[in-house]
Amino acid sequence: MDNNKFIQQDFRGYKQSVVPKIDEALARTDPNTPCGEYLRRYWHPVALTSEVSEVPKEIRILGEDLVIFKTSKGNIGLVHKACPHRRASMTYGKTEDEGIRCCYHGWLFSPDGKILETPGEDPESKQAKKIRETFKLGAYPIIEFNGLVFSYLGPMDTMPEFPHYDSFEIPGNISSPYRIDYDCNWVQVLDAIMDPLHTSFLHGQSSGLQFSEGFAEVGEIEFYERGIQYLGCNTRRINENVWVRVNELILPNFTQAGAAFAADGTKSKYFGRSSFTRWVVPIDDHHCVALAWANFGERGDPIEYNNQEGFERIEAGEISNRTKEEKQRSPGDAEAVEGMGSISSHKGEHLMPTDKGIMIYRRRIRKLIKDLEEGLEPPQPQKTKGEVIRTNGQDTVLKAPKKDNNDKEYVKLICSSVMKMQFNFEDMSLKDRDHNIIKNLKQMEARGNFE
Ligand code: FES
Ligand SMILES: [Fe+2]
Repeated sequence: MDNNKFIQQDFRGYKQSVVPKIDEALARTDPNTPCGEYLRRYWHPVALTSEVSEVPKEIRILGEDLVIFKTSKGNIGLVHKACPHRRASMTYGKTEDEGIRCCYHGWLFSPDGKILETPGEDPESKQAKKIRETFKLGAYPIIEFNGLVFSYLGPMDTMPEFPHYDSFEIPGNISSPYRIDYDCNWVQVLDAIMDPLHTSFLHGQSSGLQFSEGFAEVGEIEFYERGIQYLGCNTRRINENVWVRVNELILPNFTQAGAAFAADGTKSKYFGRSSFTRWVVPIDDHHCVALAWANFGERGDPIEYNNQEGFERIEAGEISNRTKEEKQRSPGDAEAVEGMGSISSHKGEHLMPTDKGIMIYRRRIRKLIKDLEEGLEPPQPQKTKGEVIRTNGQDTVLKAPKKDNNDKEYVKLICSSVMKMQFNFEDMSLKDRDHNIIKNLKQMEARGNFE
């Protein structure tokens, strides 16, 4: 055997066998970590309403062990798992009218953590009276909205207003709550939304068409950074049409895209809305959950996908419960992001121009974490109190025949004109904005002029 042949071929396995260290700053979200503190400045969904009952349920969020329950009167509580008396698990607590009673010595806690009763202690005991009056079980405020339970896990004096997005009320839309759990760090799942190129490969070429016609085309990639809103556009040429698809991230973890099945690039579409309205929430450093609504109707996906299998396909391109072989044959988002390992090493990546969206949003989060460490609170998605946040995740498919001399530039121009026009209408009322965007898209198409 001639070793020289191998040496000349420059095999680099050994040289590159050490996996670079993980990106602690973004990956760690437990209490008292910089990113954990940053994320604790926002409302996050923590469970589906359907998961909450009078039987306490153990959940982890941002590395905290918590218990969520509903009292017999219907009030939801989200509390620390460990009872403050002797740390028995509240998972074994019994819910009552007023709260949850620890199984071990019967202390009763209200949903906001107040110690209502310490029944085993002498009623005259000063110590028991004192603890009832001065101490509490750790608890978090919750808001239950349209099938999702949201909570705020940060300091009470910086609690922001619950954000209201325009996609909460798209006329004629049916929104169904869903959850998909991932066995990996939250950043890996979030990255995919700022990576519009992967839809052409993972969901179009590598696994065959997982969504609809046109997905396999590789489009022109463009990114927009607007405050803490990040938009990643993949604009594809599909025969006589140009399909502008916009993925959206609003920091820290709100995501939308276009439709999964309804937009296929072959039929005209004017400002179609996202197949999901979704948050990627860390469970701990090695797990996260997408809690979301899947959106159905004229502006979203076809109603036939309004079931568990449909949610899984919308979320990840494939159903979750499959054999390893099936996953290898047709990987979806879960395989792509979990396959990196539970915390991927960013230093081991080689980011390309098409990864610009990932670069800019990660950089921004790092900056916001640093600012917070220096005492500057991070910006909220709503700029003013009560504002309904305008979102831009969408599909638009316009008839725009090919320009033989420079179609690539033409496709790019269509994307930038569509986005610019949308941004110009940002301050209109929701109804006017929607109406004007659609009207303008139709006019642009009819004129055949996208300047
Ligand atoms: S450990 Fe909960 S009441 Fe004693
Ligand atoms: Fe994907």
